[in-house]
Amino acid sequence: MNSTRERVGLYPGSFDPITLGHEDIARRALSVVDRLIIAVAHTSTHDKRGLFSVQERVGLIREVLEDEERIEVRSFEGLLVEFAKAQGAHLVFRGLRAVSDFEYELQMAQMNQELWPDIETIFLVPEVRYSFLSSSLVRQVATLGGDVSGLVSPSVLKRLHEKLGGG
Ligand code: PNS
Repeated sequence: MNSTRERVGLYPGSFDPITLGHEDIARRALSVVDRLIIAVAHTSTHDKRGLFSVQERVGLIREVLEDEERIEVRSFEGLLVEFAKAQGAHLVFRGLRAVSDFEYELQMAQMNQELWPDIETIFLVPEVRYSFLSSSLVRQVATLGGDVSGLVSPSVLKRLHEKLGGG
């Protein structure tokens, strides 16, 4: 690889909504790449019902990471590898929280490699205090009136309360 060429990374996911764990992974990825594109998928491999629209998720991510000039946020439809090719990104970042994540992540990484051999998946480990954290748990706990203020940024917390009618 040409060492003077800009190194572009992709951090794909559902981000419904972005958590402090995601923010941690995104900031860590910046030590590996020059520019990071956070890519919000319209279609996830997981069968999930969304709380926020894809546009809302993109807006929230932009808000919480606005201090990071090297991060941009986009949404994509269809195959991740096609989006990566279009963006000139050969590196895909995913967070690995626990062994339970591994099987699914390995399967995705190998499928992506099968579809486009030039793609590399890099797994990053979040701070241990975020190792139990997921968007689906945040959605569930917030929906049931639990306190998620230590798990998401203040602007996400505010939108969660607005969305769920909690004030
Ligand atoms: O945050 P998630 O839901 O675990 O992210 C999963 C995501 C969006 C990265 C994955 O579902 C994906 O890449 N979807 C795009 C469709 C695709 O390319 N599928 C084949 C890869 S296995």
